[in-house]
Amino acid sequence: MGSEQWGTGTPKDQAGAAAPALWNAFANMSSLAGHAVTIVRGAGSTVFDDGGRPYLDALASLWYCNVGHGRAELADAAATQMRQLAAYQTFEPFSNQPAEALARRIVDLAPLPGAKVFLTPGGGSDAVDTAAKLARSYWRALGQESKQITIGRSHAYHGMNAYGTSLGGIPANTDPFVPLVSHVEHVAWDDAPALEKAIETAGAGRVAAFFCEPVIGAGGVYPPPEGYLASVREICRRHDVLFIADEVITGFGRTGAWLASERFALDPDLITTAKGLSSGYAPIGAVIASARVAEPFWRPGSTEIFRHGYTYSAHPTACAVASANLDLIEREHLVARVAELEPVLARTLAPLAGHELVGEVRAGTGLLAAVEIAGSARAADPGIGPRLVADIRERGVITRLLRGIALQISPPFVITEAEIARIAEVFTAAFDAAAR
Ligand SMILES: Cc1ncc(COP(=O)(O)O)c(C=O)c1O
Repeated sequence: MGSEQWGTGTPKDQAGAAAPALWNAFANMSSLAGHAVTIVRGAGSTVFDDGGRPYLDALASLWYCNVGHGRAELADAAATQMRQLAAYQTFEPFSNQPAEALARRIVDLAPLPGAKVFLTPGGGSDAVDTAAKLARSYWRALGQESKQITIGRSHAYHGMNAYGTSLGGIPANTDPFVPLVSHVEHVAWDDAPALEKAIETAGAGRVAAFFCEPVIGAGGVYPPPEGYLASVREICRRHDVLFIADEVITGFGRTGAWLASERFALDPDLITTAKGLSSGYAPIGAVIASARVAEPFWRPGSTEIFRHGYTYSAHPTACAVASANLDLIEREHLVARVAELEPVLARTLAPLAGHELVGEVRAGTGLLAAVEIAGSARAADPGIGPRLVADIRERGVITRLLRGIALQISPPFVITEAEIARIAEVFTAAFDAAAR
């Protein structure tokens, strides 16, 4: 792979520049070093590189900048909190007011009466590993310590910590590291009977939890097949397996409801969230535990302890930013805006499905979409995906390749209809150029 796979941002004068030291995530540093696209600021749905060049951010960074870039009120919330108490740990007896307020707020928004909230510091991966350990701790607290198996799906992405890597269903991410966490199994993403078979084969007495993204995200944006979520939810209930909705992408508005669990009537036992909780203005996640899962730990007289936590769990500054972000979403009615834009995005992208190099356009669940490159085009030209991403960026729109096959579209909730149209135009122009 050469550096041409990355395309360019604003060309940099490398003469005299210090050798790059930053090691990028998911990047071949041999070819990227010296070609990184350095983003320096943002406003609304647009970000700017270090040469002042604007890009329409069709990704909302990594599915998270839901309120758009450059929101000064979130910077103010951080500064105000930092001046009062920037950080303090929440191990054992310690608490802080921003964390208490945020937990209450999340419970009020979640479709889980009587829920409790465990706040995590580092994003979705921490939330997923926390949820997996909490599920196992729950069964242990009930005297069923043999319920240890967790089940994930093909195409799934649950982050890059140990549990998340093991539960993931994207082989390129998972294969180099497994076996990592033991007692993790996988089923096909769209096959509810396969879940039931896996539970029966292992024995329900050994299965702790099933992890399920309501809409598969990083695996390629796959909305749930008709009836799938209701079926797997019912199977979990019947076999007494905890149902964990991984809403790291879908949480806090992206599907046009505060939580996808509400939109799809999932009634999960645990919900993992991060990204949209703060729109990325501070790293923070939340595991929302249903009353059922919380009960053995919170019941009067219980001696159970969830022996888990991070130095920066419930970080006051991050919590203050998250609360201000939720205020902003509410004040500007951005969840309703996502619901309004859902058909606009689907309609605007639909014509791309007729392009000779496009296999499928997946849209229709909130502001989540993907344009899959035709299999024949990828087979004939394995470099087409990275080249399309680079060309689309050259034309002023940021997207990326999911699972090597599909281009991601997950814009900020503040995107305008004109900007959605521009994404479609630029994608079309890049596919046309690739076809020539
Ligand atoms: C569904 C899901 N779960 C977990 C994660 C991991 O989140 P993070 O990268 O913030 O650790 C992601 C990240 O994209 C995700 O999409």
